Amino acid sequence: MRVLFCGDIVARSGREVIKKYIPFLKRKWKLDCVIVNGENAQHGYGLSKGSCELFYQSGVDVITMGNHVWDQKEMLSYIETDRRVVRPINFFDTVPGKGFFIYQTPKGGILVINAMGQAFIKPLLDNPFIIISNFLKQYLLGNNNIKAIIIDFHAEATSEKIGLGFYLDGRVSMVVGTHTHVPTADARILPKGTGFLSDAGMCGDYNSIIGDSLQSMSSRFLERTPMLRRPDPAIGEGTLCGVYLETNDNTGLANIVEPVCIGGTSLKTQIPEGFQKDLEEIRTLK
Ligand SMILES: [Fe+2]
Repeated sequence: MRVLFCGDIVARSGREVIKKYIPFLKRKWKLDCVIVNGENAQHGYGLSKGSCELFYQSGVDVITMGNHVWDQKEMLSYIETDRRVVRPINFFDTVPGKGFFIYQTPKGGILVINAMGQAFIKPLLDNPFIIISNFLKQYLLGNNNIKAIIIDFHAEATSEKIGLGFYLDGRVSMVVGTHTHVPTADARILPKGTGFLSDAGMCGDYNSIIGDSLQSMSSRFLERTPMLRRPDPAIGEGTLCGVYLETNDNTGLANIVEPVCIGGTSLKTQIPEGFQKDLEEIRTLK
């Protein structure tokens, strides 16, 4: 399976890079599935039905969430009508929506799970290690027509993310972190075959403070005045950041895990080795 996972889509700059690049990448790279984290798509806070439609039209197949899942109130009811939007699995079962989705491809199913960490992040949910481990008892990788299992671990602490990676090593295709909005340089395959990346970074304007406009600097870090309103997002040219995963169709484990970083002005462009020939065309996309 060929999967592209894109990190947190932040506001308009993030939505625009999805619209601009995903149709091309899905076609050129013959992607079986595109997963995005959509919890910051609306002005940095939550996700709307309209954005879901835009993402699906662009070629996105599954949308994962995180701590901002309920920031747009419509999501409380919309999520019950759209199984492709996946909220953290470690919420109580009484919470709307589901924490997993099986995306069906002609080659078999791709199980996508979203979970939230417990360190330095609110709300404090149930233990993601235990919840995921118990849940996976019914979905063995490579069996029951589940050809790949992708975990979006929405968490603040890299230690917790690395811990989950090793805890699930050999049982899932990839553990990828989201939430910090900063891409890490540790894409790798763990000893038992699980692909891992501490954080995919964000899809958004990197001339910002993790997506917020630079005007939020003074209240945040200089004056430390209480924030009376949510900061506005940065609206400059966006960068698409994520990770490309290729799995073995028999075992479901990772063959290739490479970071992807396209567009914008402040981060270096990175695409997988095998797709270097596409660079020129990518630069001309409108
Ligand atoms: Fe988040």
